Amino acid sequence: MTAPLVLGLETSCDETSAAVLRDDDILGHVILSQDVHEVYGGVVPELAAREHLRRVDAVVERALDEAGTSLDAVDAFAVTAGPGLIGALLVGLGWARAASWALDRPLVAVHHMEAHLFGPLLENPDARPPFVALLVSGGHTLLLDVPEWGRYTLLGETRDDAAGEAFDKVAKLLGLPYPGGPEVARLAGAGDPSAVSLPRPMLSRGQRPGDPDWYDVSFSGLKTAVLTVVREMEERGTLDARRADVAAAFQEAVVDVLVAKTLRAVEATGRDRVVLGGGVSANRRLREAMADRLGADRRVFRASARLSMDNAAMVARAGRFHLDRGEIAPLDVEASSSLPFPGLTRPTA
Ligand code: KG4
Ligand code: ZN
Repeated sequence: MTAPLVLGLETSCDETSAAVLRDDDILGHVILSQDVHEVYGGVVPELAAREHLRRVDAVVERALDEAGTSLDAVDAFAVTAGPGLIGALLVGLGWARAASWALDRPLVAVHHMEAHLFGPLLENPDARPPFVALLVSGGHTLLLDVPEWGRYTLLGETRDDAAGEAFDKVAKLLGLPYPGGPEVARLAGAGDPSAVSLPRPMLSRGQRPGDPDWYDVSFSGLKTAVLTVVREMEERGTLDARRADVAAAFQEAVVDVLVAKTLRAVEATGRDRVVLGGGVSANRRLREAMADRLGADRRVFRASARLSMDNAAMVARAGRFHLDRGEIAPLDVEASSSLPFPGLTRPTA
């Protein structure tokens, strides 16, 4: 029996994306990034929803064309139901609900961050559990232990800003365009991280396993520290000359904290694999430092840039997992900006 053909849809933020997947093979995949937000320096929810609505039909059609197939051949629809911008989510979910009803095919509601966990698997069959996962995106920072797909233990999370959000805010402070992560990373490449001293929030020698801040992270204090440094440099007129150093020092601080927390998780769980997911996993320095500090006996997986940004292929793959378990959504399933992560538990001890 051939594996089901899954059509995935992702519209939770500012990428309109559709993918056609059979097993781990991406047969068709279109990701359309919205550029209307650029002038506003951030995603405008109302505009995002309108753009999704304008493009979603064409995006699905192109993905189906690329796959050399048609809508009738689709066996199941997988769509991001949350978390994300509610108006944006509703476009994809509404589309998938209608298609599922019209064609009488099952509908699978996917959690956006669980989908990010499946991104690396599409390019590397070894990126499967058991592993420790670090999910770092614009809205979330989650450190998970994953003994098997569908079972997730939350070890740590951010107390305030997500890692990507911190990159975006610091980009703004440095006068860089949105989205700021790639811009800060690029600029950091030309700077000296040790030329500016910045704190490592939630990371201190005094911490012990079991302490509430052992795994958690926090980035808003770091952003404030950058703001202070930038203001001082502006007053002295040295900012232009030192912008790259600030970017490099900030990136190094974030990477240091994320790598240290992941290392703690790996040591506590005994896992020998780490999966990086979410937009910030595209950061080269993060991946290098992670591989370095984890050592030769442990492997680090992350998706290519295309599959680490928001995309429908990872949504289709996560959807396939739930489809196989018979986890079908009712046709009136709702979008939720704060959808709970399925299968996520907190450690008991
Ligand atoms: O997963 P994603 O595409 O969307 C969300 O689900 O939020 O993540 C987007 C985030 C943005 O904050 C963006 O600035 C950040 O990922 N990002 C990066 C890099 N590329 C994207 N942050 C640091 N370094 C990068 N190279
Ligand atoms: Zn995402």
